Amino acid sequence: MKITVIGSGYVGLVSGVCFAKLGHEVVCVDKDEKKIVALKSGQVPIFEPGLPELLSSVKISFTKNLKDALSGSGAVFIAVGTPQDEDGSADLSYVLAAAKEIAELSDSYKLIVTKSTVPAGTGAKIKTLVSATNPQLDFAVASNPEFLREGVAINDFMNPDRIVVGVEDEKSQKIFEEIYASFPREKLVTTDIITAELIKYASNSFLATKISFINEMADLCESVGGNIKQLSKAVGLDSRIGEKFLNPGPGFGGSCFPKDILAILNVAKENNVELSLINSVITSNQKRKQKMVDKIRQIPAQKIALFGLAFKGNTDDIRYSPAITIAKELAKSGLEIFAHDFAAIENSRRELSEFKNISFFEDLYEAANDADLIVIATEWEEYKKIDLSKIKTKKIIDLRNLFDAEEIRKNGFEYFCIGGK
Ligand code: UDX
Repeated sequence: MKITVIGSGYVGLVSGVCFAKLGHEVVCVDKDEKKIVALKSGQVPIFEPGLPELLSSVKISFTKNLKDALSGSGAVFIAVGTPQDEDGSADLSYVLAAAKEIAELSDSYKLIVTKSTVPAGTGAKIKTLVSATNPQLDFAVASNPEFLREGVAINDFMNPDRIVVGVEDEKSQKIFEEIYASFPREKLVTTDIITAELIKYASNSFLATKISFINEMADLCESVGGNIKQLSKAVGLDSRIGEKFLNPGPGFGGSCFPKDILAILNVAKENNVELSLINSVITSNQKRKQKMVDKIRQIPAQKIALFGLAFKGNTDDIRYSPAITIAKELAKSGLEIFAHDFAAIENSRRELSEFKNISFFEDLYEAANDADLIVIATEWEEYKKIDLSKIKTKKIIDLRNLFDAEEIRKNGFEYFCIGGK
């Protein structure tokens, strides 16, 4: 099937390339000329492991011309940004502008699908807008939220737990069955549009709650002398709970959880529904970062090697990264910071440019060389492979519990983790 994907950002690009891998004829559209030129020559403007290789192995085209891209296409996926408005609600202007253009430029049936995370009710807004713009157009609206995690997005797309499709008629459902024909039929969960829109927010809110929960349990363990690693493992073995997303850390960050939680609260507020649990997750996560700063400051040190700047491992993304908040707070209190990351240095340099006491290192051993204390703030797997014999400073505070405490202490390190032991 010919599929058009509007927006070649993170979601659009990964989805487009993966649709092509599934054997569909894909045209990706973006207004950014530079991006289109780069993509045409095989360059991927985002950091996502495996994406450049996958892009070079599929047949896919990129264009600025939406009219051409729409011609002969049965399904159009809107994957443009939904930035956060000042009040925390999702800014739908790009989504609605894309829908209007689709209406103006289409002359045959279109299934108009939102792939971006959009508040409940957006499908209905798109429907009204498209009908008003082009009353003759034969079309349907649908929601197909993505659940991709940065760093493992291709695997998430190709091996989904479920594929959620919110539809308003049988024809739309049939189109999705064709698009996702490579996956077992039972993976497709069909709902109405508004429920599909809510599923995305509900999933992200639940995962964020799970993380905040385990972070609070880590605090409790630490105070009463428990061991969060053992607690987390045992709690997660209960199949009703599950072991994933039970790793304590410095709080969740990234482009989705913080934004989506605020957006769901906004939807609730607009509909006079109180989501007090989700409200408290926001507070818990905000306090978490300060708590980490206080914990670091309790250890006497003037020069700090900060290992990790990205909001999690395997990405260059620093949006809402707890590591960045920690860097800023430590720098504000006059400490000298030697920052390291495997992919996020360039982004961090820009974000932290006002702090003259933060310097950046490509080599983690150089970052640690002159430091009194190492702080591990991002869960890059590579940090686990550090050659400890090359590290001079003997103090480590591990906010991601990457190391085996007993093992590292045997190597002569004063090791502080979170959640006790
Ligand atoms: C998330 C959702 O997982 C994904 O389904 C959605 O499409 C987009 O948002 P992403 O933002 O890429 O994906 O990151 P994710 O791997 O979910 O991690 C989010 C944050 O939670 C990171 O800061 C991470 O470090 C933190 N985290 C995650 C923990 O602190 N502990 C955990 O156990 C898991």
